[in-house]
Amino acid sequence: MTGVSIAIDGPAGTGKSTVAREVARRLGLAYFDTGATYRVATLWCMREGVDLAQESDVAAVVETMNVTLVLDPRNPRVVLEDEDVSALIRTDSVALTVSKVATNLEARAALGQWQRDIIAGELEGGYSEGRGIVAEGRDITTVIAPDADVRILMTADEEIRVARRAGEGADLATVREAVLGRDKKDSTVVQFHTAADGVHTLDTSELTIEEAVQAVLDLVAEVRGDDADEATEASSAETAGNE
Ligand code: DC
Repeated sequence: MTGVSIAIDGPAGTGKSTVAREVARRLGLAYFDTGATYRVATLWCMREGVDLAQESDVAAVVETMNVTLVLDPRNPRVVLEDEDVSALIRTDSVALTVSKVATNLEARAALGQWQRDIIAGELEGGYSEGRGIVAEGRDITTVIAPDADVRILMTADEEIRVARRAGEGADLATVREAVLGRDKKDSTVVQFHTAADGVHTLDTSELTIEEAVQAVLDLVAEVRGDDADEATEASSAETAGNE
């Protein structure tokens, strides 16, 4: 039996990563931050010195990178060529450059395929021993895992999102650019501000992290409950048929 898959999308500053990671930890699932794939690809391209404006060159360089992702929600890591780059991919230089890779459709296709393989592997028995995965990003509910058991779009007011990120210590102008500027650029290739059909919207503007985690857990329970009901209905139909 395969595990539960939870897909969470949304812009920066909605609490998406923190919430996704905590939900994975509590449910014993793998935690997959798909943004990390774009970030590590960007770091790799910067190191390889490829001109980020040359789409095909970037996509070709992305194919050569050797990365291992550790999906343990208690300590998720990104390892590039045997070097732990988990902190490096969060620096401003990567954050301000990553949209160039994220808006490159050829690179997106390659990274998207990698993401699908990781998600499938986890459902079949990877880190989480087949129990499942929480994958978060911008296009997971729509493009990468539209069949996920639970799909959620996290939103929050723009000013609240900027304030949350500024609260993490960086300079306000940089934060504004990193949050809103990046959303704007990314929005040219992926749609992550309104929920697609069947995707639950969770507005975290007024929620604490714990409340947002609970809201996600409630949705998961609801879906699992529905599955259990369907299973019960199916088995009583079978019983009725046997009578
Ligand atoms: O969530 P994040 O800030 O780590 O994302 C890094 C970049 O990758 C950001 O520019 C959005 C982009 N991204 C994307 O286009 N699709 C995803 N599924 C995840 C991230």
